[in-house]
Formats: sequence, C-alpha cells, structure tokens
Amino acid sequence: MTQTTSAHHEDGAAPPAARFDAVVRAAVGQGLLGEGGPVAGFIDTEGVLASVGTLHDAFAATPGVLHTFAAKACSLIPVLRLLAGCGMGCEVASSGELRLALEAGFAASRVVLDSPAKTREELRLALALGVAVNADSLDELRRIDTLRDPATDSVLGLRVNPQVGGGAIGPMSTATDTSKFGVALRDPGTREAIVGAFRERPWLTRLHAHVGSQGCPLELIAAGVARTYELAGEINATLGVRQVTSLDIGGGLPVNFADETVHPAYADYVAALTAAAPGLFSGRYSLVTEFGRSLLAKNGFIGARVEYTKDAGGRRIALTHAGAQTATRTVLMPDAWPLRIGAFGPDGTPKGGPVLAQDVAGPCCFAGDVVAYGRELPELAEDDVVVLYDTGAYYFSTPWAYNSLPRPAVYGFRAAAGRDGRDRTVTFATVRDAQSMDAIAAESGLAHADALIERAG
Ligand SMILES: Cc1ncc(COP(=O)(O)O)c(C=O)c1O
Repeated sequence: MTQTTSAHHEDGAAPPAARFDAVVRAAVGQGLLGEGGPVAGFIDTEGVLASVGTLHDAFAATPGVLHTFAAKACSLIPVLRLLAGCGMGCEVASSGELRLALEAGFAASRVVLDSPAKTREELRLALALGVAVNADSLDELRRIDTLRDPATDSVLGLRVNPQVGGGAIGPMSTATDTSKFGVALRDPGTREAIVGAFRERPWLTRLHAHVGSQGCPLELIAAGVARTYELAGEINATLGVRQVTSLDIGGGLPVNFADETVHPAYADYVAALTAAAPGLFSGRYSLVTEFGRSLLAKNGFIGARVEYTKDAGGRRIALTHAGAQTATRTVLMPDAWPLRIGAFGPDGTPKGGPVLAQDVAGPCCFAGDVVAYGRELPELAEDDVVVLYDTGAYYFSTPWAYNSLPRPAVYGFRAAAGRDGRDRTVTFATVRDAQSMDAIAAESGLAHADALIERAG
C-alpha cells in the first residue's frame, strides 16, 4: 500500500521538535490512525538510511568493518531488507531472527548468531549455512566441537564478559561481574582457560563482547572493548600465531530520549574506542559491530488514539491505545525508559493551549499500564492522538501479546519537501499489517480448541 498526502509548514523546513508533525497529520488524514487504526508504529525510511550513513562515515577510516544490525531492535523483514540493501549485515539471537534475516536477503556470510542458549539444532543450521557464530561459553564450544564440519564457512568466535561493570539500567548491563552472558574474563583461571580453548581450536578466530545497551556510558563500553582487544593480543602472542583475526565489538550506543538531538554520535564512540584501545583501528583485526537502538530509535514513533479521558482522585487520565503491548519497557520500568509524548488533535495537527498534568494510560488490564505519569501536555480529549517518540527500536516492532491485543500495524514513510520547500508530501508503505482477530485466535490454540474436553466413550 502506498498513500500520499500533503502537509503545510509555515517556516519551510520542519523545526526539530516538529520533525514528524506532517507525518502524523498525513497518517490521520489517510485513516492509518483513528477509529480504524487505534495504534500504529511509524518508521522514517530516509531517517534510517541517514543513520546508517552516519555509522559508515564514523568508521570510514577503518578497513574491513562489517556493521551488522541487531535484529531484535526492529525485527521486521522490510526494515531488515532496507538495511541489507545499504550494506549492513545482521546480528541474530534466535532461530526466528535468523529466519527473518535470511528472508530479508542478508547473505549468510553477513549474519552473526549470538544467544546464550543456542540449541544443537540452531548451531547445526548456522554451521551448515555459513552464518558466523559467537559461542557464549566454553561448554558451547565443546558442543560446537561435536557438530562442526571442518568445511564450514562459518566464522567462529567466543563471547567474553570483560566484567567492566554496569551502567544506569541494570537489566541492560551485560558486563557486570555476574552477567549471564559470555565467559567471565576476570574470574580466577578464566583467562588461561580461554587461551587454552583457542589453542585447542585453530578454527576459533574471533572474540566477541557486547558490554551493554542503553544506560552504559561510552567509556564503559570502550573499556570492555579494550579488554577484549588486549585478550586477542595475548592469545595471539601466547600461541605464536595470528589466530584471532576479528573482533566483534557488539552494539550498545545509547540513545538520547530526552529531546530531539542525537547524541552521543557514532563519531564520539569511535573517539572513545580510539582513546581506550589505540590499536583497535590499525587493521590488525577486522571488526564487526552490532548496533540496534542507535540506528532505529529516533527514526520511529507510535501514534495512538485517545479513546476516553477521566478524572480519578484529582488526577486526569487519558486512556489511549498505546500501553504495555507496544511500550512494554516504559510501562514495566517507567523510570528507566521515559518517553517524550506529543499531543495532537483529531485531525492530526499539534495541540496547543494551556498544559495540564495528565497520566497517559494504555488499554491493558493492569493498573500499571501507564506510559507517562503526570505529564504536562495540552488537555487531551476523546479522538485526539498521542505520539510516543523515539520508539523505532524495541517498541512497536516487538509487541507483547498480553490481553490478546493485536500487534499494531507498522508503516514506513518518506516525507519529501515540496517544490517551494513548504509542502511536504508524505508517502506511506505498509511494513506490517495489524494482527487480525483470526490470527489472534489461531495463535491462541484455535486448532486445538477441544483438546481439553473429555470425550464420551
Ligand atoms: C549481543 C548483542 N549485540 C547487540 C545488541 C544491540 O544493542 P543496541 O540495540 O543497544 O545497540 C544487543 C542488545 O541486546 C545484544 O545483546
């Protein structure tokens, strides 16, 4: 589906805070948001391409970098295909994500499989396809020993946990002393065990670390990469051969959710890496990155209809269709994942007027299903639209099936400036249809509806 509409901007270019105003208005005008579509996700196609360009530019001086996209951040085939088309690879963490990556068109040689709990079947498939695999433990390496055909094209690596500490959000910090990920590098005897594991396996040529995601400062991530870089040097020196030839440095660049500005930038990260591990970019090792949130978050938003408003105990509450099913992290951990919210009228134009502290709640049947508490916004009313900004990664693309709420539709859009720079033409393309009631029934056991009924005789 492709739909086009025009929107008007008084000042020519949209100011940063109004980056998506024309898109919201067009979405309402075309019926993508409203009675027929109470909640939907939107992806700025050109914005994604621009973010990929910034990533490539930041690492441009370094030969042999494979930038993979962490599929979990936006597990939608059209998005993955867009990324495959602009030179990205793909990091996957399950059979499902592997399937999506292959359907999207990534060559197996540009796919990397992580995950702390790979089954034998997943490993067999990855090795047969030639997908790179980062083993998460020494036990997994022993499993690979039994499954690996010497002729496999898969690059094989080992994930380490450099144990450099956590960031501001505990559950996003993967390099704490007790993290479940990787081989805990600073635990007694581990370094020697890792060197031994490489000695026994000449085919093991990569080290992997992903220090953490949102909430981890650049310096912490860079310190973890530096420890991994040093380990690679130690392995190669001890073995007397250049066995480790590549480093997968993970993703994790944090995103600024407080306002429209993009920071830190990839260039800041490259600077932090250069300071922490000056030899990292020398070309001695080819590099793999696995960014997710930093490529997509600011290039997407959720739009949702306000169904009702009410007052309770002196508090105004707007009941919308954007709740835990699509903003799961924010609802379950509101302090860690605050989102900027925009208020729009029933025609999709930004609301003005005096602001009022309001709770913006969702449709789910538990009291905590609130995406913002006491937020100062123009007074919301039935039929208005709220926008949850910076939700292009890990939000609408990975919904939660609670209350059998349908997975929301997702649309990509392109917004081109008109001839005089004032009119902006917005073109939408369906990325994912809203989940149908038939699909909900099917995934809820419809085919086995009688399974628990005792049959007579
Ligand atoms: C192994 C691995 N790589 C990359 C990522 C992507 O991280 P981010 O989206 O913060 O860039 C994750 C996120 O969980 C991860 O676990």
